[in-house]
Amino acid sequence: MDDSRETQSPKAFVTGYPVRHSRSPLIHGYWLRQLGLAGSYRAHEVSAEDFPAFIASLKERSGGFVGGNVTIPHKEAAFKLADRPDELSEELGASNTLWLEEGLLHATNTDGRGFTANLDERHPGWDRSERAVILGAGGASRAVIQAVRDRGFPEIHVVNRTVERAQELADRFGDRVHAHPIAALREVMQNAGLFINTTSLGMDGEAAPRIDFSPLADGAVVTDIVYVPLKTPLLTQAEDQGFAIVDGLGMLLHQAVPGFEKWFGKRPVVDEALRALIIADM
Ligand code: ATR
Repeated sequence: MDDSRETQSPKAFVTGYPVRHSRSPLIHGYWLRQLGLAGSYRAHEVSAEDFPAFIASLKERSGGFVGGNVTIPHKEAAFKLADRPDELSEELGASNTLWLEEGLLHATNTDGRGFTANLDERHPGWDRSERAVILGAGGASRAVIQAVRDRGFPEIHVVNRTVERAQELADRFGDRVHAHPIAALREVMQNAGLFINTTSLGMDGEAAPRIDFSPLADGAVVTDIVYVPLKTPLLTQAEDQGFAIVDGLGMLLHQAVPGFEKWFGKRPVVDEALRALIIADM
């Protein structure tokens, strides 16, 4: 039996290196106040070298934490050091949410749920087409590929500058996931109903390449997992070309929901005031 809730108010953390840019304390602090719950959620900077000791102290409950979030660069280590990683984490090889239960450290990855919940909220019906195109094959694209596959898209096309990285993900995520070089982008966009950018294209000081979204299906939606700026260069282009767009901020907010519920015992709601709070902090 987890006795921390009875004896003291639950404490949770976000750890990363660096961690000061994390918006998670703002999100969880907002929900704790809104729901009137006793509890705390704080950023806790831990280097890669110190991370195993941090996890060991968490298991021993020496810091009094009930769990927390893990961000870059610790997601892979968190998965490896957890006692009970779930199936989503197993397939990704990375976890972003940890909690103690009956003395064991459980781990999951909530990024994919954040991605689908954001689209469910802002563009219902986003999952009704046959074909999705995902641009990028970095760490951030993995949970998105998994989520889109698990929603049932028959065809998922991962397009990446380094095609080998896309191929590695196609091999990992199964038969419905296909890898392509950038040169094939226009072809695989034909009749796709969903286009997802997972790269930093146009945000690293260089101009964003022009993408012609017209091969997409009528009514297609274009989304980005980057949320600073809210409207990324690719989203601006897609909107100018008449497509529906969904920004990535909701993914950040929704991925936080399962952790909050585990640590503090109540399911929080992503509302417009929370969105406004994060936007004001950008
Ligand atoms: P993250 O873990 O945040 O996804 P990453 O692993 O560095 O970050 O991946 C960044 C993604 O953006 C990759 O798909 C990368 O393509 P490569 O695998 O070929 O490196 C893509 N990317 C970044 N800058 C790019 C650029 N100028 N042109 C095309 N793709 C780019």
